[in-house]
Amino acid sequence: MPNRDEPLEAPIVLDSSALPEVIAFEAVSTRRAFLRRASVLSLAIPGLGAALAACGPEEKQGGAAAASGAAGAAPPIAGGRPNPDSKLDSSLHISARSATVPSAGGASIPYKRFDPRLPALPVGRTLRLHFTARAVPIRVSDDIVVAAWTFEGDTPGPIVHCRVGDTVEFTLTNEAEMPHSMDFHAAQIDPKVAFRSVAKGESVTFTYKPKYAGAFLYHCGTAPVLMHIGSGMYGAIIVSPAEPLPPAKEFVLIEGELYLGAAVNGVHPLDYNKMLSTLPDMVTFNGRPDQYTREPIHVKVGDRVRFWVVNAGPTVPCSFHVVGEQFDTVYLGAPPGNSIHGVQTFSVAAGGGMCFELVCNVPGEFPFVNHSFGHGQKGAIGYLVVDA
Ligand code: CU
Ligand code: CU
Repeated sequence: MPNRDEPLEAPIVLDSSALPEVIAFEAVSTRRAFLRRASVLSLAIPGLGAALAACGPEEKQGGAAAASGAAGAAPPIAGGRPNPDSKLDSSLHISARSATVPSAGGASIPYKRFDPRLPALPVGRTLRLHFTARAVPIRVSDDIVVAAWTFEGDTPGPIVHCRVGDTVEFTLTNEAEMPHSMDFHAAQIDPKVAFRSVAKGESVTFTYKPKYAGAFLYHCGTAPVLMHIGSGMYGAIIVSPAEPLPPAKEFVLIEGELYLGAAVNGVHPLDYNKMLSTLPDMVTFNGRPDQYTREPIHVKVGDRVRFWVVNAGPTVPCSFHVVGEQFDTVYLGAPPGNSIHGVQTFSVAAGGGMCFELVCNVPGEFPFVNHSFGHGQKGAIGYLVVDA
């Protein structure tokens, strides 16, 4: 059990039947070490603590703060006292089996391809989004169901599309037992306020105007962030420039990693201890390994294809490459600026996003891959089929 004398380490009550809200809490000593390191980092780099924690001690917009147990039994999350140190958020114990675990087990969960097409721009200039955070089992392949934490019931969460200067009015309502939050990389905003964690039944609302075009990550920022991104709480917001880019078939690929624990009732918890090891079992585009190998992306000869590639990580880079093709243009950031041409591969950092364009002059089946093949081989691969 955690040392009750150490204020950064909240008590944890384990319930081995808890699924999927509790993930790999058996790795208490490793998690404690992580929290200790994160704490040191926060002290060493001013501001980083806020970014890591994404939850402030003050609740300026009326949301209830997450409770933390400083000593003894952890108080319940809802109605608990304000959390004096948001790094404790995920240290809260969850003792009830999640209602989202199906009684029939993982076998009852169907597979669903994640549509990679970029949604159309909204008609107006204000985008109103209301996401819920909830725990949902997701079938990621024929034989693997994972106990994901999600935005809107899927991982990744919905692809958001807007323009530079649009207004994004965002609300997150937490329906999960665990505190969660939302961190938009497309926003310039005080993270302690906007990106703060909210307990079950609570909401947080904030508004921003994206300043730059590009492919931006969004993710839960509740600490440890590694665990919340690694459990599936991520997605992409694509910010198109004010002046439209050349017409193209546009797709969004979000790389993610899966670290599997041993299955219980056909559902794999996602393993925080493995996340710390940074050796994923599977690497995915849009949440499922090899999904666009089994159901490829189709375009036609002559099409310009624009891949908005976001790397959710949480850890490994994505060396994006299309076999048998060359990128006509890669926008390193803020398209249409910062373009480079005639590119074979470019690395998208974890937490980053980029825009890749190619012109499909040749028919055929073109694998798009993470060319860091130790990761590509684990599922970060798909087919772009260019039909004649
Ligand atoms: Cu979360
Ligand atoms: Cu981030």
